[in-house]
Amino acid sequence: MLIAQISDTHVASTGKKAYGVAPTIENLETCVENINQLDPKPDLVLLTGDITNTSQTEEFEQALTLLNNLDMPYFVIPGNHDDRLKLKTTFDKHCPAVPTPQNFIQYVVDDYEIRLIAVDSTIPKEAGGELCQTRLTWLDEQLAKDTDKPTIIFMHHPPVKVGVIEADIDGFIGSKQLGKIVKKYHNIEQIICGHVHLQTHTRCHGTMVTTAPSVGMELVLDLTLKKPPQFVIEPPSYLLHYWTPYNNLVTHTISARKTDGPYLFEEQ
Ligand SMILES: [Fe+2]
Ligand SMILES: [Fe+2]
Repeated sequence: MLIAQISDTHVASTGKKAYGVAPTIENLETCVENINQLDPKPDLVLLTGDITNTSQTEEFEQALTLLNNLDMPYFVIPGNHDDRLKLKTTFDKHCPAVPTPQNFIQYVVDDYEIRLIAVDSTIPKEAGGELCQTRLTWLDEQLAKDTDKPTIIFMHHPPVKVGVIEADIDGFIGSKQLGKIVKKYHNIEQIICGHVHLQTHTRCHGTMVTTAPSVGMELVLDLTLKKPPQFVIEPPSYLLHYWTPYNNLVTHTISARKTDGPYLFEEQ
């Protein structure tokens, strides 16, 4: 099974650039084209939040138009830049969440070799992440339904500090309580996230937490935060999570850019 993970697309409205300079529409277009050309094609695509830059309806519509060009099913969750209700309205078929009073976007996709559990880590109008008791109890119940099948949890905020001050200061409420749940199950292959705008991998609660690069704009890695946070515009990249025939999950990074090559490993 092959899963593509796109994150932090920060799509602007038609004709606009995010923060005036980032060509996020073009970047997502390039990314979608690249994924459609993969052989084999991914079984599905997961979008781990910050789909829009400022949550305007036009941005959601623009993102929907671009993502509907994907040749395979895709699923979305909100990031801190996305309004939950607008996301649900725009991408209803792509986030089959059961309605709750708080409109949490949480659901399970269980039609594949790997079980996928979408968790909503957002706090409306705040940058940081949270898993409250309601969301945690739901997650625990879903995990308890199948304790054997390999499972991926996907949510926007990583539930762990990644040493990148700009991301770490946003915080995550409920990580300790999440840990108590995650540690009960041995079939959680990875918790895959976005938000950091950099690819990171770290151990957390006995499993692996991965953050995907941003399709929209990459954070300048600054481990000291002596300067204000900055971003650079790079060719968009995304992750491919490959459940191998040997039953392990391997994560590859794909840069959706034009390359020199390919060449064979012999004198040209
Ligand atoms: Fe983001
Ligand atoms: Fe974010």
